[in-house]
Amino acid sequence: MSAVGIVAAAGSGSRLGADRPKALVELAGRPLVAWAVDTLLAGGVDEVVVAVPAADHDAFAAALPDGIRLVEGGASRTASVRAALARVDPDVQAVLVHDAARPLTPPAVVTRVLDALAGGALAVVPVLPVVDTTVAVDAVGTVTSALDRAVLRRVQTPQGFVHAVLAEAYDDLPAGEELTDDAAVVRAAGVRVTTVAGDERAAKVTVPHDLHLAELQVTR
Ligand code: CTP
Ligand code: MG
Repeated sequence: MSAVGIVAAAGSGSRLGADRPKALVELAGRPLVAWAVDTLLAGGVDEVVVAVPAADHDAFAAALPDGIRLVEGGASRTASVRAALARVDPDVQAVLVHDAARPLTPPAVVTRVLDALAGGALAVVPVLPVVDTTVAVDAVGTVTSALDRAVLRRVQTPQGFVHAVLAEAYDDLPAGEELTDDAAVVRAAGVRVTTVAGDERAAKVTVPHDLHLAELQVTR
């Protein structure tokens, strides 16, 4: 099935606190966004659209290979993905949405997501188990209950969708609404979301410690 990858790369990276947008921060000498694009292509998507900060278009163009389409992102991740999705050809069957902030995602995760879509899933997310005891707290931080971690999962990207399903869900989402991922957008439209195995290496770079860990993992 034909598949386009969208990379959400228009964030500022305020928690990382670098001197440039997070997606342009380098890991082993290459910008995070270049790692994310490579993963999608190596895993089997046909082409990639990247949502970038409006002010940094030229720097992103210089950081990426020819043939990668850039679109101006928005004020939230939801707005950025919405802008990129609007540029995907209607004939494309599947769309995978990935965070630039997950540079070391193995291509095998992409392939698992594509295989699930080929097998009939409408929406699929890579997940990992929760290994720590996980609790709920009240407004002052007192533990109110322990959650049953057997039914909890940590959700990663790339998340895969039948193109028409994702497009319709974004059409139905009120303008300005912000959700943390794309599975939440289709779930808001009543679509069943299934899971495949994620990978610890697909961890998100959020704070400086995450970037240090990623540097240690790059073996070449
Ligand atoms: N993202 C985006 N457009 C936005 C905000 C975020 O495309 N307006 C992207 C980021 O570039 C990132 C992904 O969504 O690849 C996940 O978001 P996050 O890790 O929160 O990145 P930032 O928003 O850049 O970081 P922070 O929240 O620390 O500012
Ligand atoms: Mg953010």
